[in-house]
Amino acid sequence: MSKLPIGIFDSGVGGTSIWKEIHSLLPNENTIYLADSKNAPFGPKGKDIIVKLSIKNTELLLSKNCKLIVVACNTATTNAIDYLRKTYKVPFIGIEPAIKPAALQTKTNAIGILATKGTLSSALFSKTSGLFASNINVVEQVGEGIVELIESGKLYSDEMTALLKLYLNPMIDANIDYLVLGCTHYPYLMPLLIDLLPNHVKIIDSGEAVARQAKAVLTKHRLLNAQNTNPKLQFFTNGNPDVMQSVLDKKYHQIDYLDF
Ligand code: SIN
Repeated sequence: MSKLPIGIFDSGVGGTSIWKEIHSLLPNENTIYLADSKNAPFGPKGKDIIVKLSIKNTELLLSKNCKLIVVACNTATTNAIDYLRKTYKVPFIGIEPAIKPAALQTKTNAIGILATKGTLSSALFSKTSGLFASNINVVEQVGEGIVELIESGKLYSDEMTALLKLYLNPMIDANIDYLVLGCTHYPYLMPLLIDLLPNHVKIIDSGEAVARQAKAVLTKHRLLNAQNTNPKLQFFTNGNPDVMQSVLDKKYHQIDYLDF
């Protein structure tokens, strides 16, 4: 049992979609969330830079004594998690596009995946896709511009709707029946996606699975905090705290600006 916090980082506010799942499954746990919004988006950056940013965020969380680190960013996971696991002793949980369940369940033999350039071009993504989806039509789409709009507070905007139509129409034409969200910012698009996609298309993200995995790893390492009834939930951003506030429930007020 450990009262030390779980650390979570993302290129911005998107990983709060993962934080919500973790907090819902593990409500006693203290958490520290880092939104590296100053450096968002990670997606178009090269692997070396993504690894450097992931090291910086990891070391800040370690300096705050985190017992487990959740890399709540698909781009950072697919490019940096191997390095992080080899370099630091603390356990890491990563997040990968849920291509396997979509590939196993598709009836039309076509699935869509919306993710960043960094994720879609990573070796880890190619490996997963090759393993589970080699016999189906995987319509890959880089979600260029989506993270930037969310990070600038333009989640519900005409620009966002126009971008999504552009990205989803080729998938609809290919008759996909599953859309995999390969970026932790994208669950915040859910109302828009439901509106734009045909009813039969199911949307999959990895949030719940990541929370279950976090619980399993904490249990295995005897690090669960079963007794704390009033957890400390800290959020740090090097961007605009108002944007973070807009995606979180009002009760989570401890959002601080930090230059990291
Ligand atoms: C990004 O910063 O480009 C997106 C983060 C992600 O891949 O989850």
